[in-house]
Amino acid sequence: MSAPGRGTAIRLVDCAKTFPNGTRAVERTTLEMKGGGTIVFLGPSGCGKTTLLRVIAGLEAPDAGGRVFFDDEDVTELPIERRNVGMVFQSYALFPNMNVEENIAYGLTVHGATPQGRARRVDEMLEMMQIGELRERRVTELSGGQRQRVALARAIAVQPRVLLLDEPLTALDALLRERLRIEIDVLLHSLGITAAYVTHDQGEAMAIGDRIAVMNRGAVVQVGSPREIYYKPASSFVADFIGTMNRVGGTLRDGALELPGGRIPWAQAGSGAMQVLFRPNDARIVPAAGAQLRGVVAQQFFLGDRTRLHVSGVADRMVVVETTEHREFHTGETIGLRIEPGALLRLRE
Ligand SMILES: Nc1ncnc2c1ncn2[C@@H]1O[C@H](COP(=O)(O)OP(=O)(O)OP(=O)(O)O)[C@@H](O)[C@H]1O
Ligand SMILES: [Mg+2]
Repeated sequence: MSAPGRGTAIRLVDCAKTFPNGTRAVERTTLEMKGGGTIVFLGPSGCGKTTLLRVIAGLEAPDAGGRVFFDDEDVTELPIERRNVGMVFQSYALFPNMNVEENIAYGLTVHGATPQGRARRVDEMLEMMQIGELRERRVTELSGGQRQRVALARAIAVQPRVLLLDEPLTALDALLRERLRIEIDVLLHSLGITAAYVTHDQGEAMAIGDRIAVMNRGAVVQVGSPREIYYKPASSFVADFIGTMNRVGGTLRDGALELPGGRIPWAQAGSGAMQVLFRPNDARIVPAAGAQLRGVVAQQFFLGDRTRLHVSGVADRMVVVETTEHREFHTGETIGLRIEPGALLRLRE
């Protein structure tokens, strides 16, 4: 098995995809994916995620002029069976007439492994996925989470250069999804396989991706680490797609941002009216007396690990604030807010 960091680098050069019916599913895209890393393609339904993954896999050819490279090898003309990629889909796509063991062994048989080599690898996979006791079960007799483990085992068994996962957890309940999400993250990094992972779930993208490529209408609109995408979104589309973002209208004057509820010292070039963004967890609740900003609690939502408040009076519209404080807030209560200048974001568009 390859060591971490030794995975195959994937490079897309000018890859677009137009279907015969004229649908332009992917705009011209140039993108580099580091060997051994996990890149997550994140975006709303229909934005072209699956299509881009299929171009990487060799299930779709890019439009003329597009090239796909695995390391320095141009694989554009290679069909999927010669690219050595493993794929895991949302719908498992296991063979229902085979048991767990036979499903995992399938690719090995196709690749011409010896019976001993095959048996050894199947054992390894069963152990890695902790499904040894299920080896002789029919896949129709498994839970969703168990099926997804078998699908992963089958894809990884053949030691692919590249692992492609298309919404592999969508069919599972929230708790199991979260557990498998962590397992997949650990697994991918321990294997050192280059992985491309498609999801429309931002939590999943943050947890699994070393890098996230946010897509909108066929185009990759931003690529960055989860933190960069979350705190430095390049556009309002990205800001709004990744979690809740406050957008307020304020005036920059004399080194401070003036809002209806107060002013925040902010060393910024320029002056005048502008739109400013900040995340709900970047506004800290402080005593109202002497606070930078003041507002009134309009609604509160207890979310277990945190409380979300809708606060009026701070800005020209309702502001969302999140706190891990345990205390209960009251509708109509006046609170103070403090926002560090570094958490304020000005969008240039
Ligand atoms: N074989 C096809 N022929 C024509 N149009 C297609 C084909 N496959 C996909 N499309 C269209 O291309 C666009 C992108 O589809 P794609 O399946 O890549 O989206 P997606 O981001 O994976 O969406 P979802 O999150 O719903 O799975 C959509 O408008 C879709 O209708
Ligand atoms: Mg899709």
